Order: sequence, then structure tokens, then C-alpha cells
Amino acid sequence: MSLLTVSNLTKRYSRGGKTLAAVSDVSFHIEPGETLALAGPSGSGKSTIARLVLRLIEPDGGRIEFEGDDFLALGGSALRARRARVQMVFQDPLAAFNPRATVARVLDDPLRIHGVAPRTERPRRIAALLERVGLAADLAPRAIHEISGGQRQRVAIARAIATKPSLIVLDEAVSALDVSVRGQILDLLLDLQREERIAYLFISHDLGVVRAVAHRVILLDAGRIAESGDARTVIDAPQSAIGKALVAAAPRLNRNRP
Ligand SMILES: Nc1ncnc2c1ncn2[C@@H]1O[C@H](COP(=O)(O)OP(=O)(O)OP(=O)(O)O)[C@@H](O)[C@H]1O
Ligand SMILES: [Mg+2]
Repeated sequence: MSLLTVSNLTKRYSRGGKTLAAVSDVSFHIEPGETLALAGPSGSGKSTIARLVLRLIEPDGGRIEFEGDDFLALGGSALRARRARVQMVFQDPLAAFNPRATVARVLDDPLRIHGVAPRTERPRRIAALLERVGLAADLAPRAIHEISGGQRQRVAIARAIATKPSLIVLDEAVSALDVSVRGQILDLLLDLQREERIAYLFISHDLGVVRAVAHRVILLDAGRIAESGDARTVIDAPQSAIGKALVAAAPRLNRNRP
């Protein structure tokens, strides 16, 4: 059984009297411990798929099965319990957190809300989470706006793993970071995946990063799957028009060519 199975997912938006199909008939699966990348041009539906999988928005059609449940049919306490198992990291953690909140507070929330640990045990859990993502425990009392972008993204990852998820949706999670910090965060993600067998739905417009971290990739074009397969095979020899165009436009990939 796959960890996540998405079948015939469709999401339409109405804008100015017209209907736009942001996601059309998209199907895919993710196995435990696997990284599936979604790539494609701006507006191709990547973030919409992320929000659908997280149930932040509801689809117009299709099915989502997560850990054997009909995810779209879940409600109440069953949905809350499942929500702990699928977490997210977005591009801009400053927008995702209250910037005046302390690091400790940001990490305490999921532990409290999902009942992971009683109050007395939570400071110890927070210290362990910080250590797990390579941050010093003395960062705990600092405010989110007082730490660096790379540190903030580590805090976002610590928050995501606090509830022991089986799937993390990463929407351009490393895109805003400079190259060396990006490499460190990607290493951390790969480490966590190896140790905790977490699966990633990894959204990125950077095919170089996708090629380096993803097992499989789906290339989206205007809300539809244009091409999918083994990440290296697809990126090294794309078959679809959009795949060819994306690879031709990827500077770091071109430079590596003979
Ligand atoms: N809330 C919304 N209301 C109306 N249209 C929307 C909404 N959210 C997204 N769209 C439209 O749906 C399409 C897909 O958007 P989406 O954000 O999923 O693209 P994306 O692939 O994540 O793009 P980017 O690479 O720029 O982040 C776009 O045409 C977008 O304008
Ligand atoms: Mg997006």
C-alpha cells in the first residue's frame, strides 16, 4: 500500500467570470520514505496540489488516500490525528510564523496541540528537536525575526517533525536560501528521511535540486501531468515539450553539459 495515493485530482478557480482549471485529472502515489518532486513553470499548479494534499483547500474532484484512509472523507478527531502525520514547510517561514513568537513557542505549539508531550516534558522535547535540526538549544528564547533565514528554515523543519509525520510537503522550501545554506538544509532533509523514513512531496522550480534529491519527478504543465518518472532519467532526457523547455532554461544543468 502506498503512503499517499492521489487519483484524478481536479481543482478549478473562478476568476472574472471565467473558470480556470488549476489542477486537472492529476494522479500519483508516494511510497514511505520516498521523495516525489513536483516541478513545472510558474502557475502550473504545484502549490495548488500541495494545498489539496494538506487539505487546506478542497478539490472539485478526485480522491486522496493517506495511510489507508479516504483522506477527503475524514473529519473531527480522525482528521486531527491524521493531520499530525502530514506536515509542511513553505518557502517563507517569516510568513508562516508569528515573527515575534519565540523559537520555543513555535515548537511548543505542535507538541501541545497534538498532545505529543505533557507540559513538563515539552522543554526537553524542544531542546531535542533543536538539536536534531542542528540548532543550539540556547536559540529557544529568541524571537523568530531575530534569527537568520537558514536558522528559521531549520526551525520550520523542527516544527514539521515534532509530530512524527510520515509525509512532509515542502513547497519551495529551500528556494529563498543562498546556495551554501540550501545545501545544508537539503543534507538535513536527506538525513531525516534516512533515519525516520519520512516521505517528501518536494516542490521546486530548480531542476538541479530536484535531480539531486528526488527519487521521482512529475512535470506539470497548466495543471496537467506532462511527464513523470525517475528524476534523473526525466531531467537528463526529457520527452515532453515542457520538460525540454524547462531543462533548456535551467542554467546549472546546462553548465554541466559537455
Ligand atoms: N486562490 C486562487 N484563486 C484563483 N486562482 C488561483 C488561486 N490560487 C492559484 N490560482 C491559479 O491557479 C494556477 C496554479 O497556481 P499555483 O499557485 O498552484 O501555481 P504554482 O505552480 O505553484 O506556481 P509558482 O511556481 O509561481 O508558485 C495559477 O493560474 C494561479 O493563478
Ligand atoms: Mg507555488
